[in-house]
Amino acid sequence: MFERPDRGLSVVLVSINFGDPDYAESLAELKLLADTAGLKVVDVVEGKRDRPDAAHFAGTGKVEEIGEAVRAHGADLVIFNHELSPVQERNLERRLQCRVLDRTALILDIFALRARSGAGQLQVELAQLRHYATRLVRGWTHLERQKGGIGMRGGPGETQLEIDRRLIANKIKTIEAKLDKLERSRAIQRRARKRGGVLSVSLVGYTNAGKSTLFNALTHAGVYAADQLFATLDTTSRKLWLPDTGQVILSDTVGFITHLPHALVAAFHATLEEAVQADLLLHVVDSASPNRERQVLEVNKVLAEIGAEHLPQILVWNKVDLTGVTPAVLRGECGNIARVSLSAKTGAGIELLRQSLVEFVDTRRKQSAALAESEQHGME
Ligand code: GTP
Repeated sequence: MFERPDRGLSVVLVSINFGDPDYAESLAELKLLADTAGLKVVDVVEGKRDRPDAAHFAGTGKVEEIGEAVRAHGADLVIFNHELSPVQERNLERRLQCRVLDRTALILDIFALRARSGAGQLQVELAQLRHYATRLVRGWTHLERQKGGIGMRGGPGETQLEIDRRLIANKIKTIEAKLDKLERSRAIQRRARKRGGVLSVSLVGYTNAGKSTLFNALTHAGVYAADQLFATLDTTSRKLWLPDTGQVILSDTVGFITHLPHALVAAFHATLEEAVQADLLLHVVDSASPNRERQVLEVNKVLAEIGAEHLPQILVWNKVDLTGVTPAVLRGECGNIARVSLSAKTGAGIELLRQSLVEFVDTRRKQSAALAESEQHGME
């Protein structure tokens, strides 16, 4: 329903430092996000403040400076490295005579680009509808007419606005109902799997860590992998056969990003639920990234937010082909598998991960059997 920012638009980034220790990283990531969305960054305007200005987020002088940058480069778009209120966004658009987006809108755009499954796409659309429902009146209407539509639809007349509001409310209801139905059928599948003793493994990780590549490497490669889809599960869950062990269910999940807005985490609840309900998390890390440690922390933070921090986790140190590290299994103090380094792309070390999964499943089965036995004794 909503168009995304056109690829190739030129953008001025704005980042205000409120004394956050992560400031530099968050700005570096904003640039990366813009790049991922296919935007061309023509200027970056930075500022310092104690707190946001209620009307324009940035101060008067800073807004002037942004305006100058927009005019100097003929920029199509201004993106703030922060969450803006609908009023701030509208005021800024009026002052700058240019379309203004906040960090949430940019992340939503990337999610929309990357959503693969039906449920994922529905969730992105729902989050976008909720985000834009309060932002129907845009401040750059006349400009849009002049330039002939740059990206997202904006600035409809008042009557149109009423119709749009109603349409959006209806659309939100329809999507919620669809997601609800999907979630119910997923829950039924999960219960059936649990009863059948099938373990589920979820891939989690920072965006671009290589989850999908690993998912494919595990499910397509080798004679033990079966490429079978569940009719009622979305395409990101597949059966994975393990040698002498049987099957597990492997699920891919949405990528995580720094400062993932809380509303987005909520919007992705249905997808993330798959992670919360898993027996094991494979936490995929881009080990070639200079930010890998921080990315691990960020993912764990989101996992804690959705109540999945207590689940057993194996770190998958991916992309060793770029670092020259030899694929290996690293064990923790209790002998448990803590980390597997591999390359999902070249396949080096995939076998080690498969063996690790076998070991995990076997240990889990033994534990369940021992538990069942002790319960049996308790009853006697
Ligand atoms: P999101 O969908 O953003 O969550 O990303 P993802 O974690 O699913 O990552 P994806 O599998 O899409 O991989 C991201 C990029 O990393 C792609 O360009 C892959 O080709 C690349 N990649 C994945 N695994 C490896 C690897 O082992 N080595 C190298 N060199 N590149 C890899």
